[in-house]
Amino acid sequence: MNAQVMPQTNAPDMTARPAFGTVLASQMAVTSWKDGRWSPHEFRRYGPIELSPAIHAIHYGSACFEGFKAYRWVDGSVNVFRMDRHIARLQNSADCLRLPRPDTTQLAAMVTGVIDRVRGEVPESPGALYLRPTLFGTGASIGGATLPATEAMLIVLASPVWDYFAGGEKPLRIFVEEKLTRTSTLMGQVKAAGNYAAALGPTLAARDQYQSDQVLFCPGGSVQETGAANFLLIREGKILTRSLDTTFLHGITRDSLLAIAPQLGFAVEERQFAVDEMLAWVKDGEAALCGTAAVLSGVGTLVREGGQAIPVGGGDVGPHTRRLRKALVSMQLGEIPTPAGWITQA
Ligand code: PLP
Ligand code: COI
Repeated sequence: MNAQVMPQTNAPDMTARPAFGTVLASQMAVTSWKDGRWSPHEFRRYGPIELSPAIHAIHYGSACFEGFKAYRWVDGSVNVFRMDRHIARLQNSADCLRLPRPDTTQLAAMVTGVIDRVRGEVPESPGALYLRPTLFGTGASIGGATLPATEAMLIVLASPVWDYFAGGEKPLRIFVEEKLTRTSTLMGQVKAAGNYAAALGPTLAARDQYQSDQVLFCPGGSVQETGAANFLLIREGKILTRSLDTTFLHGITRDSLLAIAPQLGFAVEERQFAVDEMLAWVKDGEAALCGTAAVLSGVGTLVREGGQAIPVGGGDVGPHTRRLRKALVSMQLGEIPTPAGWITQA
């Protein structure tokens, strides 16, 4: 990569709140898989890496990643939220793409090692340090279309981040896509790099045509998820969301919200539901997207094919969404206790 087009590192001005992911922290961790084993990892200054143009990931898409956050708490400590679950999900993605599994202990050490080296670059809340372990097939052979990658690389990048959606906590405008799928039925649950490229066409088309922030994929009229976050329907005393299957990503934010929902007075219903039921719900209920990057972002408007705009509740971020978001963020910042194992001090 050319130095002029490298994203900036080490942004000194932490009040500037650059767009999500555009600033990379100064250090990264790298390990390679060869001859059946991972090499000892090393920490390097963030910068270009040399790769053959014939690697498997470029030609046949053997690439997957994780995204999770470390938060600076008021006592100055830096703490990672649900790291074990994100490592387990990367291992599942690796299995699905026939890439070598990252080693749990090694990857945890890479993550905490990077955090330790960039401690001064971790923003205060509402910012966080976004961690991005990326696993991809190397091995220089363009003949391996029906073979797994022979070698692989695992890199942990970090990025100081603030809001994912430009406009902060303003209600989102979501296009309801009732025909197309985000990705294939089996790959939805894999955090595969190619899934994001697959969703780009419908996402950009809806942005142009309907000025939507995101697309809610509802193939065959069954509500699934958006391009980069899970989807929840929320109302007094109740949350409804799609039950886990292979068609969509098993979000760890979703899991965390559903785990704390009962103590906040919400009964959780996980099942498939149709666009019609969603439209009936939002007449007086709420809808929101949840994910590491999205946190819990309220939906203000659903737009259907042809341009019909349907307000969600009053069109603003609803009170139950705000309450759930506050509880989630309070746990991430160590302001209220979390279930055992959710926090790793780095
Ligand atoms: N769905 C998709 C497609 C995503 O990219 C993400 C973000 O990682 C999520 C859902 C939410 O997952 P998580 O809450 O684990 O970040
Ligand atoms: C995340 O929430 O971690 C995501 O993966 C969303 C996006 C930045 C790809």
